[in-house]
This record gives sequence, C-alpha cells and structure tokens, in this order.
Amino acid sequence: MIGRHPAVQIDLGTGDGRAVLAAATAASERLVIGVDANAANMSNASRKAARGKLANTLFVVAAAERLPRELDGVADIVTVYFPWGSLLRGVVTADPVIVAGLARVMKPGASLSILVSVTEHDRSSGLPPIDERDLRDLTEPFAAQGLTITGVTPATAVDIAATGSSWGKRLGAGSQRSAWRITGYRSDVPGDPETSTEHRAVPV
Ligand SMILES: C[S@@+](CC[C@H](N)C(=O)[O-])C[C@H]1O[C@@H](n2cnc3c(N)ncnc32)[C@H](O)[C@@H]1O
Repeated sequence: MIGRHPAVQIDLGTGDGRAVLAAATAASERLVIGVDANAANMSNASRKAARGKLANTLFVVAAAERLPRELDGVADIVTVYFPWGSLLRGVVTADPVIVAGLARVMKPGASLSILVSVTEHDRSSGLPPIDERDLRDLTEPFAAQGLTITGVTPATAVDIAATGSSWGKRLGAGSQRSAWRITGYRSDVPGDPETSTEHRAVPV
C-alpha cells in the first residue's frame, strides 16, 4: 500500500486522528498514516475513514519507542502535533530513542513538523514550561540522530487550526497559551552537516 502513493506522511501520537483525516482529504495523492500507542483513541477516525472511503489513510497502533520496522524510511513528512506523555517528554528532552525513531521512519530529506506547548498549567506533566530557547537547544541532540532543525517559531491559532489538531484546538494553543512549531528535515548521516541531504520540501 505504501509504495502506491507518491508521498507518505506519518502523524505520530495522532490521538483522535482528526489531523490524519484533514491531511488525507486535503492531499488525496498522499498516504497519511496515523500512529498512536492507544488504539481506542484512533477508532472513530479509522471508522470515519472507512465510511468516507478515504483509502489514503492507515492507522497503526505502536509506541514511538518501538515503531514497526515496516515504517523504516517510508515517510516524506513526519508530523507530531501536541503530544503528551512519553512522546512529549521524548521530544522536548531529545530522548535519543524517540528522536532516533522519528529519523528512522523518514526518507533522507523528509520534512519534520512538531507542534508543542508546555506552560505553567502543565506542571503535572513533570516538565517545566518550555520556551523558544529551550527548543533551540534541541538542535544538537537532534542533529546527533540525523535530524536538522531549521526553525523554532511561535505557532499561531491559525497555523494550528490548519493542521486539524484536536488537542491544539482544545488547549487554545496559539491564542490562550503559547505554542511552538519546530521544523526540520532528515539529513543523511547523523550529526554530519557535510553530508546532509538537501531538503526536499514536501509541503506539510
Ligand atoms: C494530546 S493527545 C492527541 C494529540 C493529537 N496529535 C492532536 O493534535 O489532537 C496525545 C497522544 O499521544 C499519544 N502518545 C503519547 N505517548 C506516546 C508514545 N510514546 N507513542 C505513541 N503515542 C503516544 C497518546 O496516546 C495520545 O493519543
């Protein structure tokens, strides 16, 4: 199924899969794969996709820490929108297992787009509030896993609405609380800027 599509997007920590349905509807040539550790979260979206004959969607139950080998090097685009739990912690602390997993499923040159928001209200997550500088500090550890960060920018409510993320909307991210977009791409050799692949921009 994966080989039949000119472009593949993986939405990791997809939750209710609304962003998958939105992306698959907007780009019908693209295969959009929602991945989440919790199958129940994705069940409605999976049913909706079947009812709506959205043949360019796939839902995979898997943890970011143990992504199936079948997904190795398939993605032109990886999106991670407002994760929580171990995925959030893994991204904002640049946990090598999580970051290497992201890199592993991406083709060389593939695009990465991550939306995160951690504020004072999220103390129960065990994480301190994060700002732009904290996220810029991810550049080196991400590069060590073969991911080049090209930007850390504030995400507006309009940007977030365009992704179809339910959680971003529910949080009021970009309006009632600050949110950040991290963009990047997969380079060829982890940590080696000399051999990094030119970024083939696939619009997210
Ligand atoms: C806030 S929810 C849904 C976010 C969704 N992307 C959105 O924008 O609406 C976060 C999701 O991340 C998933 N998640 C957390 N840790 C994960 C991990 N290690 N691997 C895969 N999914 C994870 C949870 O199961 C949950 O469905």
